[in-house]
Amino acid sequence: MYRLAYVSTAHKQVSSSELQYILEAAIRNNTAANVTGILLYNGASFLQVLEGPEKSVSEIYARICADERHSHIVTILKESSSRRLFEDAPMSLQAVPSDVGKLPKGVTRADNIDLYLPSALPGYLRQILKSFNTCKG
Ligand SMILES: Cc1cc2nc3c(=O)[nH]c(=O)nc-3n(C[C@H](O)[C@H](O)[C@H](O)COP(=O)(O)O)c2cc1C
Repeated sequence: MYRLAYVSTAHKQVSSSELQYILEAAIRNNTAANVTGILLYNGASFLQVLEGPEKSVSEIYARICADERHSHIVTILKESSSRRLFEDAPMSLQAVPSDVGKLPKGVTRADNIDLYLPSALPGYLRQILKSFNTCKG
């Protein structure tokens, strides 16, 4: 099991239909590739965790990196792991905070991201995800 996380800058205020496209493409492709994860959007930046077979994660990440809906992509985590942490969804999409505008069906408004994180998440990863929209850490 391989895990990768990155942050990126949205090209502009991403529209509801673009978010919907991203989520639908992620669910379709990640399901086929046995990849799971979480995607956070705060109105300006994305933070995504992808996990699964290394080859699948790398192929999907290469496509994501070529996507013009975002730029300034910075890989913040690459690790191998004995277990899958995000096992519930091929990709879930949370908007943090909740005032990022109109959201399509399937995108959760997450005022408290902690509520949407798997309980088995190790502290360092929980901290990275919780810190996404705050300077408090
Ligand atoms: C922030 C962001 C996250 C994305 N996450 C995924 C993802 O997890 N899986 C995926 O297949 N595509 C994801 N995409 C979309 C891909 O960049 C690409 O548009 C898509 O994989 C093309 O799929 P298709 O060939 O089935 O149309 C993401 C795009 C953005 C901007």
